[in-house]
Amino acid sequence: MDHPFSHGFLLILLFSSITFTIHACDLTERSALKSFASALSSLALNWTASVDCCQREGITCNQNGWIIQLRLPSKGLTGGTFPSSLGNIKLLSHLNLSHNLLSGSLEAGMFLSLSRLEILDLSYNLFSGEIPLSLSSSYIQMVDFSSNIFNGTIPSSFLQHAWNLSRSLPADIYNAQALQEISLSTNGLVGPISENVGKLSKLKLMRLHYNNLQGHLHPSLMNCTNLVEINLGFNFFSGNISVLDFSNLTQLSKLDCISNNLTGTLPISLYSCKSLKALRLATNDFEGQIQPEILQLKNLTFLSLSRNRLTSVTGAMKILTGFKSEEMPDGDITVDSGLQNLCVFSLYSCHMTGHIPAWISKLGKQEVLDLSFNRLTGTIPGWLGTLPHLFFLLLNDNLISGEFPMELCRLQALVSQKAANETGHCSLELPVYLTR
Ligand SMILES: *[C@@H]1O[C@H](CO)[C@@H](O)[C@H](O)[C@H]1NC(C)=O
Ligand SMILES: *[C@@H]1O[C@H](CO)[C@@H](O)[C@H](O)[C@H]1NC(C)=O
Ligand SMILES: *[C@@H]1O[C@H](CO)[C@@H](O)[C@H](O)[C@H]1NC(C)=O
Ligand SMILES: *[C@@H]1O[C@H](CO)[C@@H](O)[C@H](O)[C@H]1NC(C)=O
Ligand SMILES: *[C@@H]1O[C@H](CO)[C@@H](O)[C@H](O)[C@H]1NC(C)=O
Ligand SMILES: *[C@@H]1O[C@H](CO)[C@@H](O)[C@H](O)[C@H]1NC(C)=O
Ligand SMILES: *[C@@H]1O[C@H](CO)[C@@H](O)[C@H](O)[C@H]1NC(C)=O
Ligand SMILES: *[C@@H]1O[C@H](CO)[C@@H](O)[C@H](O)[C@H]1NC(C)=O
Ligand SMILES: *[C@@H]1O[C@H](CO)[C@@H](O)[C@H](O)[C@H]1NC(C)=O
Ligand SMILES: *[C@@H]1O[C@H](CO)[C@@H](O)[C@H](O)[C@H]1NC(C)=O
Repeated sequence: MDHPFSHGFLLILLFSSITFTIHACDLTERSALKSFASALSSLALNWTASVDCCQREGITCNQNGWIIQLRLPSKGLTGGTFPSSLGNIKLLSHLNLSHNLLSGSLEAGMFLSLSRLEILDLSYNLFSGEIPLSLSSSYIQMVDFSSNIFNGTIPSSFLQHAWNLSRSLPADIYNAQALQEISLSTNGLVGPISENVGKLSKLKLMRLHYNNLQGHLHPSLMNCTNLVEINLGFNFFSGNISVLDFSNLTQLSKLDCISNNLTGTLPISLYSCKSLKALRLATNDFEGQIQPEILQLKNLTFLSLSRNRLTSVTGAMKILTGFKSEEMPDGDITVDSGLQNLCVFSLYSCHMTGHIPAWISKLGKQEVLDLSFNRLTGTIPGWLGTLPHLFFLLLNDNLISGEFPMELCRLQALVSQKAANETGHCSLELPVYLTR
């Protein structure tokens, strides 16, 4: 008593499901996934359930059934041999294996056959050994190898390839196809940054902090005029910063050089980076004066000059804030001040002498103030207690004497829930380190 349509319907269903299975994942890709799964074990990953590999967790195929994305972050993946069979997934554009427990080293030619790669995120694993020789993809936009234990130098070919291939492309797709982000922080990388970096004209983020990189900063870095963030902290970079001309880095919002071996006076061109929100020069060997041109940086919220040989920081700051002398002028001077948005202000170990300067009271957005390890004398001024957002104050290791001012017990950010709620709106553009 079958309905005449039901067979036809069933047939169509069967047919379409067969053709779909054939197209979804070809043999090479399937065996690539098989060796991937057998090399890397995970309890969280349930791949055996579906025959069609395009349906498996973390996998995205294009409409022809070729795998284009493999996204398995935070899946508890473990394993010490990274399967080179992954190179057989030729159209792979997005590989995200971040936040797993993958270890071992990557083959030098690991990424050579992945010529369509756009996003490569292997961050937060336990990968060691050298960074692979080269990325061959001209489409590469983002590489994140941070928080691993890679060591050795960054092969100059690693970046050069990306440039070479993108360069050979027509100008109109060049915009979409050049490297925008390098994130290699917290590894054991050594050696200099290749001068080829200047060819990555689309580069926006450069995060290389917490490595053992060394050498001078090549002036070609200033060719990367789209840079928004440069983080070189906790390395061994050296050389005279005054040879660098920052004037074309108009997008630069964060510059962090903390704990390196950089020398020289700060170039005036640095103050033309008007987008700067965070500037940390702490723990280097910079010398000379902070120039009043720093007042042009109206958006600066984070300024750390600590532990340098910058002479007479107090004197320079007096100029910055419009004071000609120690005296407090009449009226409201913060309007003229270029530092009115400053939230984090760190001047520890800056050889400051004299009293705690009164102009600090006019920087009304301060939340974190560090004047420790100087030679400041006199008493702790009561006006510190009037700073509406201050919640973190370091004055240790000075020559301060006298009584503890009661005003400090009334710091709004500490005693009023309302004020505390209003504090912290100034986003900390950089992490604040307490261990020095
Ligand atoms: C894997 O998925 C299948 C189908 O979704 C399910 O029946 C099975 O219980 C799952 N296995 C585990 C270990 O989660
Ligand atoms: C990779 O996945 C993690 C976790 O979902 C995510 O935070 C990260 O942004 C992803 N990486 C990229 C490059 O999209
Ligand atoms: C880099 O790491 C590999 C593997 O962990 C090790 O064999 C090698 O000695 C290390 N090389 C350097 C220069 O530290
Ligand atoms: C990049 O291109 C130049 C000039 O075309 C060539 O000499 C060089 O070998 C190429 N580098 C790489 C790593 O392909
Ligand atoms: C800087 O960029 C210019 C043109 O954009 C290019 O000709 C030059 O080779 C680049 N310099 C370096 C050192 O990469
Ligand atoms: C800044 O860019 C202009 C225009 O591209 C260029 O002529 C100049 O040489 C660049 N300056 C520096 C210091 O790179
Ligand atoms: C920093 O540079 C000085 C010379 O300018 C050198 O004596 C010192 O060893 C360097 N320190 C590091 C950690 O590279
Ligand atoms: C840095 O370079 C400038 C300009 O060339 C020079 O005047 C200064 O003495 C140099 N400083 C150091 C520490 O080498
Ligand atoms: C300064 O910050 C304001 C508000 O976030 C923004 O609109 C403006 O574009 C910034 N100025 C520069 C030069 O980046
Ligand atoms: C402060 O914020 C908390 C959490 O957002 C809220 O519950 C509380 O009512 C706020 N207190 C005041 C006085 O605004």
